[in-house]
Amino acid sequence: MSMLPNPLEVRSRDHDILDLFLQRWSPRALSGEAVNEEDLLRLFEAARWAPSTYNEQEWRFLYAKKGTPHWDTFFGVLLEANQVWCKDAAYLIAVVARETFVRNGNPNPVAILDTGAAMQNLLLQAAHLNLVAHPMAGFDWEGGPKTFNIPDGFRLTAMIAVGKPGNPETLPAELAEREQPTERKPLEKIAREGTFSFEE
Ligand SMILES: Cc1cc2nc3c(=O)[nH]c(=O)nc-3n(C[C@H](O)[C@H](O)[C@H](O)COP(=O)(O)O)c2cc1C
Repeated sequence: MSMLPNPLEVRSRDHDILDLFLQRWSPRALSGEAVNEEDLLRLFEAARWAPSTYNEQEWRFLYAKKGTPHWDTFFGVLLEANQVWCKDAAYLIAVVARETFVRNGNPNPVAILDTGAAMQNLLLQAAHLNLVAHPMAGFDWEGGPKTFNIPDGFRLTAMIAVGKPGNPETLPAELAEREQPTERKPLEKIAREGTFSFEE
């Protein structure tokens, strides 16, 4: 059974927004249980509906299910700090962006932006399904693309661990301590009228 805190009881919003934005968070405590394939497809379906420049849909997702040969390949690309807790994930996903326009072959300056929007759709859908979906940049950036056979013109941008929420007590002590929903900067530090006036 999951003993994770409920972000809605910890986080507070300054303006009225959907609960889902606060419900999405990145715990590391995973139960090791399987996630059914229909739920996995729901995550990709959510990603599918993200906006993109010229509707290019630059995002590509590769995935591996726990207990398959692909799992070992994907797991091996993660840094050890992430392997420690990702061992109890049900799926590992690699998020890839097509960096050139299909329409004319030119470089696409917003490929990663659009792919990030698709990733966020996926993360929010996972939160809605009470699944953990934890994004990661802690992987082998040099070897990963080769391991995944990612061709030129495509970029590996992130990995995501997906699983059922677990018990923080199963984590190493230093990770168990951090198993709390994070807070956010106040709005005036991220949004202002007019030209740039932020100190940082
Ligand atoms: C692109 C990206 C890379 C991240 N890389 C890692 C990672 O390698 N390992 C990890 O444990 N968390 C990673 N995180 C999770 C962040 O630490 C987390 O999103 C952030 O602290 C905000 O907390 P929240 O997601 O719980 O709201 C990453 C998040 C993003 C968006």
